[in-house]
Amino acid sequence: MRLSKEKLFDLMKQKLVKAGLNEEAASDVSDVLTFADHRGIHSHGAVRVEYYAERIAKGGITAHPNYSFKQTGPATATFDGDNGPGHQAAKQAMERAIEMARENGVAVVGVKNISHSGALGYFVEMAAKEDMVGLSMCQSDPMVVPFGGTEPYFGTNPIAFSAPSNDDRIITFDMATTVQAWGKVLDARSKNESIPDTWAVNDKGEPTTNSRDVHALVPVAGPKGYGLMMMVDILSGSLLGVPHGIHVSSMYKDLTKGRDLGQLHIVINPAYFTDLQQFKEQITTMLDELKAQPAAEGFGEIYYPGERGKLRSEKYDELGIEIVDDIYNYLISDDVHFDKYHGKNRFAE
Ligand code: NAI
Repeated sequence: MRLSKEKLFDLMKQKLVKAGLNEEAASDVSDVLTFADHRGIHSHGAVRVEYYAERIAKGGITAHPNYSFKQTGPATATFDGDNGPGHQAAKQAMERAIEMARENGVAVVGVKNISHSGALGYFVEMAAKEDMVGLSMCQSDPMVVPFGGTEPYFGTNPIAFSAPSNDDRIITFDMATTVQAWGKVLDARSKNESIPDTWAVNDKGEPTTNSRDVHALVPVAGPKGYGLMMMVDILSGSLLGVPHGIHVSSMYKDLTKGRDLGQLHIVINPAYFTDLQQFKEQITTMLDELKAQPAAEGFGEIYYPGERGKLRSEKYDELGIEIVDDIYNYLISDDVHFDKYHGKNRFAE
């Protein structure tokens, strides 16, 4: 099924309101989810609505949160999300971070006690659209072995970075610190397909190609990704006084409780370091130079981070966003479904 951006947004918003969110919160969450589907990040779009609806209905996402923002220094602040919708809390915290960086050149805002906030590219692009550099990182539930280990310890702990150019191109580098997302393993499992031996390990910590044998995911680039996911966990967990590593709450185990997750936004205002125009022009030059680089055999062209998402958006603007039929049918149904995810393990099995 193909839907316009507006139609998809409306369907998701309406379902989230039905699950218990107010109009504003449902709009904010739906905006982040629409962003993801519109860029082709379908793992973090409409597919999640049914889960969020169940968690809201069971009380594990506070439907009417009391957010509190506290500036703790000239360039530092905390934003307590009261375990409300993570997308909304992270968005409001980024708005504050941008205001602070406009005044002070830099802002570091810790967002604590939130639920899942979706695709981080959304938040960092907010900064780039205001001529600033945005960085964001967050915790997620443990499903990744430490390098050389057999048991999951860290989550897929994503990091995102965005910077403006002098034209309509925005660099948006946004990645999980694992080789592959769990959704890809699930997809292979549903099709009875094998997976590359670089994605995951079995319960002995050995690389596996059997999608049914997967016990945990592995960090991107071995010990380097392991170090990166640890950094993300420290900066968005321990630094904010919320649980770390293996103690981070499971996505599905108990949908009645708040998840107490952490996320860190860093915003840098280039105007405090150099001439803003020159900065943006230099990025435009960098992108032009990269696009002019010769492509290796098997690669049609060189892309900059975020470019493929932009191209997908342009295609979807013409043809509509592709949404799988089951998700569309759920979105147009009268049901909210409150009994699908509670009590499942980390892989929603
Ligand atoms: P991915 O592997 O699809 O892309 C990672 C990065 O590589 C992107 O910036 C993309 O633009 C860039 N890229 C991809 N192909 C490229 C190419 N050919 N040339 C140049 N650049 C290229 O992303 P991943 O790791 O699967 O993450 C997907 C989403 O999941 C992200 O939005 C992330 O924030 C989100 N996520 C959220 C979590 C949460 O708990 N909130 C947990 C984990 C991931």
